Amino acid sequence: VIPENSDIVIFGASGDLTYRKLIPALYHLYVNQMLPSDFSILGVSRTAHSDEEYREKVRASLLKTEKTDPEKLAEFCQHVGYQAINTLDCDDYGKLQQRLQEKAAQSDTPRNSLFYLATPPSLYDVIPASLAAHGLNDESTGWKRLIIEKPFGYDLETAQELDKKLHQHFKESQIFRIDHYLGKETVQNLLVFRFANGMFEPLWNRNFIDYVEITAAEFLGVEERGGYYDNAGAVRDMLQNHLLQVLAMVAMEPPSAINGNAMRDEVAKVLNSLQPLSDEDLRQNLVLGQYTASELRGKELPGYREEPGVSEESRTETYVGLKAFINNWRWNGVPFYIRTGKRLPTRVTEVVIHFKKTPHPVFGKDAPDNKLVLRIQPDEGILMNFALKRPGAGFKTQEVAMDFRYDELVDSNVLTAYERLLLDAMGGDSTLFARSDAVEACWRYVQPILSFNQDPHALFGYACGTWGPKEADELLARDNRAWRFPC
Ligand code: BG6
Repeated sequence: VIPENSDIVIFGASGDLTYRKLIPALYHLYVNQMLPSDFSILGVSRTAHSDEEYREKVRASLLKTEKTDPEKLAEFCQHVGYQAINTLDCDDYGKLQQRLQEKAAQSDTPRNSLFYLATPPSLYDVIPASLAAHGLNDESTGWKRLIIEKPFGYDLETAQELDKKLHQHFKESQIFRIDHYLGKETVQNLLVFRFANGMFEPLWNRNFIDYVEITAAEFLGVEERGGYYDNAGAVRDMLQNHLLQVLAMVAMEPPSAINGNAMRDEVAKVLNSLQPLSDEDLRQNLVLGQYTASELRGKELPGYREEPGVSEESRTETYVGLKAFINNWRWNGVPFYIRTGKRLPTRVTEVVIHFKKTPHPVFGKDAPDNKLVLRIQPDEGILMNFALKRPGAGFKTQEVAMDFRYDELVDSNVLTAYERLLLDAMGGDSTLFARSDAVEACWRYVQPILSFNQDPHALFGYACGTWGPKEADELLARDNRAWRFPC
């Protein structure tokens, strides 16, 4: 369904997110004829640019990162404009209001506005209040929606304050809190895999599942984002949002329907059932790490403290490994081992479901266990491991696999996360956006960890290109288990 005519206003128009993710996503939607016939993209930031200058920047960045068709690119750029405003000065938003009014005056149908806040979080309450002061929250002349990027708050208290401020000017139905992991096809497929296959769902509980691993590993370090990252760390950057949302998809109860309310009720319920982390959990079931300089494949990689924008004495974690429990009927006692880190050996995100052994080991204790590997990225697919009788005499077993890969699907136009989420927001579908109760449940859960990296015994070093501190291996080894190392 093509969304209605809309103006897409991007605050933070010169930022990294805009050029790396938003503009390419909008370009692909345009090329695939998924944007309305009458749409515009208006970049907004402080720097003075003419429409033409900004268009040129957009064009150059698309040429650099995407495969483009010259004709389509030229057409697309005709929809792009620019408005410089001082986002801290409420009066200045009058210029934006005027731009949008001019567009509305040229149009036969009511125009809708999607305001994308791709700015530093310090502007998340300022921009909506200033938009509202100019009536740009008023839906009597077309819908007005806000997309807000993570981090949504800095901790539980600031997240609650921000939510209160947003609700002074915008209704919940106008607020779209983006978590781009929910836009990933493979994350959404967790729901179809679980709730459309009668074969798996009966086994999806504490009676049959031994433990679950959730891994989001990155090879890259903090790159140019040291300034932001040093105030965030892996817990705020990845665990509080992306990883806990994935956990919710793996662990939630079946919703009565796939819509914004039914889905998000179940997500909030499971996140609220996470067992709170006690002081003992922080010492026993949590591992924080920071990458240190090392040579990898003949290249010297700097340690985290040597990265630009990072303090030389920084205690910010670039790795977090955690054993979590969900206190409900389905999952009681099943550990969820979660880890994420920068400068690990490779980029991979996956969920591994380890099934319990059969009750009596007739083929010996070494017979392989059943594992289901849900590969979120980059090698998207689903792998099922099971035991096979090794051909020949006797009953020796070996592990074999059934493997489905997304790239085997012919004819499928897989949208990137940002493409999908931009379309959903324009279509008014909030199913794949985080609701404030879930965001707060995640903050409540990670809150005890947020300052734990300051504890003198809490932060371990790990060399670039390794799977994190050895203490993270011990977290599982203590339970006679081991991480899967997906290389
Ligand atoms: C972002 C984080 O939200 O997600 C980054 O701020 C991280 O630090 C990125 O690299 C990972 O996203 P993806 O889609 O590449 O797994």
